[in-house]
Amino acid sequence: MEIDIFTLFPEWFEWFHAQRHVRNAQAAGSRVECVDIRAHTPLSGGQVDDTPFGGGAGMVLRVDVMEAALRARYGVDPVALRQRRRVIALTPTGRLLDDNYVTELAAEGAFTLLCGRYEGFDERIVEHFATETLSIGRYVLSGGEPAAMVVCDAVLRKLPGALGDAHSAVEESFSEALEGNPEYPHYTRPAEHRGWRVPEVLLSGHHERIESWRRERSRERAG
Ligand code: 6GU
Repeated sequence: MEIDIFTLFPEWFEWFHAQRHVRNAQAAGSRVECVDIRAHTPLSGGQVDDTPFGGGAGMVLRVDVMEAALRARYGVDPVALRQRRRVIALTPTGRLLDDNYVTELAAEGAFTLLCGRYEGFDERIVEHFATETLSIGRYVLSGGEPAAMVVCDAVLRKLPGALGDAHSAVEESFSEALEGNPEYPHYTRPAEHRGWRVPEVLLSGHHERIESWRRERSRERAG
């Protein structure tokens, strides 16, 4: 998996890159790289954004600046790039990220995330360079960077070998194995704490009963 993140704030990702599960994914052959949009701007003084036509608050990321950054990275017209690579603009109004969307992205060999800032992107970036828009929820973040980390985390942990126990990604919340339902509750030692006992069935060693108890709890949580 190769994920490119276009951002005005690459330093946000230094911490993210240092996390063990991200380093493990990279050791297993995946790549997460940041492209500093500002580093490629054709405008003077590192300018990347501008005031909105028609007036209003905030600044808008310029289409010519995004084009220059995409060209610098891929060496092709970004209009052509999107024919062969998913280019995802991160916006609060985009397609909501859920387990199906994550599974779809995990099946790609590579994709690109575009982080907007301030009031967002010039709409022509979305219209002509992106294949789609993605949102992590119906609230507004000050930029797409935290959303990009959410996407990377969710996608990387789906890849084979990303988790210590390969089984754990299969039977987790919202997965097909659980019919799209939330995961069942987990317990560990001690079997009793302040009188709060772990369900007896889990201590029984009876695998079929445990299995059916877990399915029931999972369905119950789905409401
Ligand atoms: Cl992807 N970007 C921004 N700026 N805000 C968001 C979001 C994305 N998803 C939810 N809120």
